[in-house]
Amino acid sequence: MASKISFLIEAASEARQQSYSPYSRFAVGAAVETSSGKVFTGTNVENISFGLTICAERASVAAAVVAGERDLQTLAIVADSAEPVVPCGACRQVLAEFNPRLKIVSQTVAGARRVQYIHKLLPSPKRGIMTNVKR
Ligand code: THU
Repeated sequence: MASKISFLIEAASEARQQSYSPYSRFAVGAAVETSSGKVFTGTNVENISFGLTICAERASVAAAVVAGERDLQTLAIVADSAEPVVPCGACRQVLAEFNPRLKIVSQTVAGARRVQYIHKLLPSPKRGIMTNVKR
């Protein structure tokens, strides 16, 4: 549904306004919708150590989980980039943890949009890992 996606993009856009990105000056916003219809947002939080920077996508996942919502359905990402941003490798693994078939809608501030699925970006995120543990 187009309006639902627009709502998510708007939520990601608003979250982006809170970005703490003094080092890269690259502000990113994310919004994830869960199966209950609730929306959780995140933005990138940078650190002078660089390596401790938290991406917008992971921040939104943490917000959902702390609210008791783990069934991620759709993720929206907004950045002022030449082309729609694709989540980094670390975020792909974190997103796949909660839905290996997550839908990702990424949009630039100028309005270019790309729709992708996490299983295309990160095949086999859990294969062979901890097969001794029942999940
Ligand atoms: N960043 C995100 O938050 N999400 C992405 O998908 C791409 C990169 C952030 C991390 C860093 O603060 C800045 O953008 C530049 O990489």
